[in-house]
Parts: sequence; C-alpha cells; structure tokens
Amino acid sequence: MSFNIAIDGPAGAGKSTIARRAAQELSFIYVDTGAMYRAITLGLMRADTDIEDAAALERALAGIEVTIDYPDGVQQVYLNGENVSGLIRTEEVSARTSACAAKPEVRAKLTDLQRELARRADVLMDGRDIGTAILPDAQLKIYLTASVQTRAERRYRELSERGEACSLEEIAKEIEERDYRDMHRETAPLMQAKDAVLVDSSDLTVEEVTERIVALARERMESGHGA
Ligand code: DC
Repeated sequence: MSFNIAIDGPAGAGKSTIARRAAQELSFIYVDTGAMYRAITLGLMRADTDIEDAAALERALAGIEVTIDYPDGVQQVYLNGENVSGLIRTEEVSARTSACAAKPEVRAKLTDLQRELARRADVLMDGRDIGTAILPDAQLKIYLTASVQTRAERRYRELSERGEACSLEEIAKEIEERDYRDMHRETAPLMQAKDAVLVDSSDLTVEEVTERIVALARERMESGHGA
C-alpha cells in the first residue's frame, strides 16, 4: 500500500516550495494539483469559454486533456500534449483558476487522475481539498497556513525580484479575495480536515516547516501507519 501525504492550505503559505522539498527528502513523488487546475484554466481561456454557460463549459472540457509526468523528477503538466508548465504561473491564470476550480465539472475531471497517482506511488500531494475530499485516508495530513500579511509580503518579494511592478496592498487584497472564494465555494471548499496537523508558517523558515513535515511523516511510517 502506498503512503500518502496531503498538504492543503491557502495560496502563498509556502505549500509548493515546502512540499517539493519534503517530497525530495522522503523520496516521494510531489504532485502539485494546483498546476492541473491552472492547465485546465489555460485551456478554457484559449477556447474563450464562458464558464458560467454550463453547456459551453461541458463542451470545452470535453476537448481538454490534462496529463502530468516527471521527466527529471520534476512535475511537468501538459494540456492536450503540450507542456504548459511555463505558461500557467501568470497573474491572469492565477486569478482565473480560482473561478474555474470552483466548478464541479472542472474538479470532477481531475479527481480520478489525482487518486490514481496516489494509489500507484508514495505521493506528497498539495492542493486545497486533498485531505478532505481527494485522499480522505491519507496517512498524514497537513494544513499549512500563514497570515495574509506574511503571504502578501512573500508574494511581493517574489514579484519584485522578477522585476514585475506590484503593490503590497493590491496583493494582500487579491490574496484575501482568493482565500474567500476558495473557502466559500460549494464544491470541495478549502478547509482543514479534522485529522490534519495545523502548521502556521508565518514565523517559521522553509527549512523549519519542511523538517517538521518530514519528521511527522517518518514518525507515522515507522509506527506502521500505512506503507
Ligand atoms: O496552489 P495554486 O495557487 O497553484 O492553485 C491555483 C488555484 O487552483 C487556486 O485558486 C486554488 C485552486 N486549487 C483547487 O481548487 N484545488 C486544488 N486541489 C488545487 C488548487
């Protein structure tokens, strides 16, 4: 039986950086489910789909295939065979993904793929509904969060380093709005699973959080929970 780790939490809590590192230390496969939602969103954007039109959404989704693989151990995401990993991190895709991911038809398209990956291998999967909906039996669940201020400052630094103009207030506002949408949508809202360990990364370094998760995983593997 595979050992599954679910990491959920809001945008900007450091999930992907920490998940990638922890997976590497544990020799687990890191599955970034946000990238899958982003790829579908890019497909819907390209098809100029009005996602509020249920029939149009259904039609467009039928023509969208999302797959992933790990050529050098790093997840690559493909939209109908095209590697779109480099195209899905723009602000526009980020903003639109939140609305697309709220659609049950969009979520249904990814559920089987995510469960199948977790069944086949030891995975550390990050997202919003992994511990609550996708892998309710994961042997370790983490809910990773940080204050809005901390997350906005981190994002501000990232964008400034890339030379992109941005305002801290604007970023904080966007984060709050996205949190609200992700937490209040009807289908698979973001929330802490009852059996998830809460980790607040506001005052912790990436290394400290990674170590904490790796230690918890080792503890559970040794005590025979799964694996
Ligand atoms: O983790 P991320 O920022 O790449 O996620 C992009 C968007 O996709 C975000 O608005 C939340 C959504 N998402 C989701 O609804 N469920 C997941 N399992 C992963 C991401």
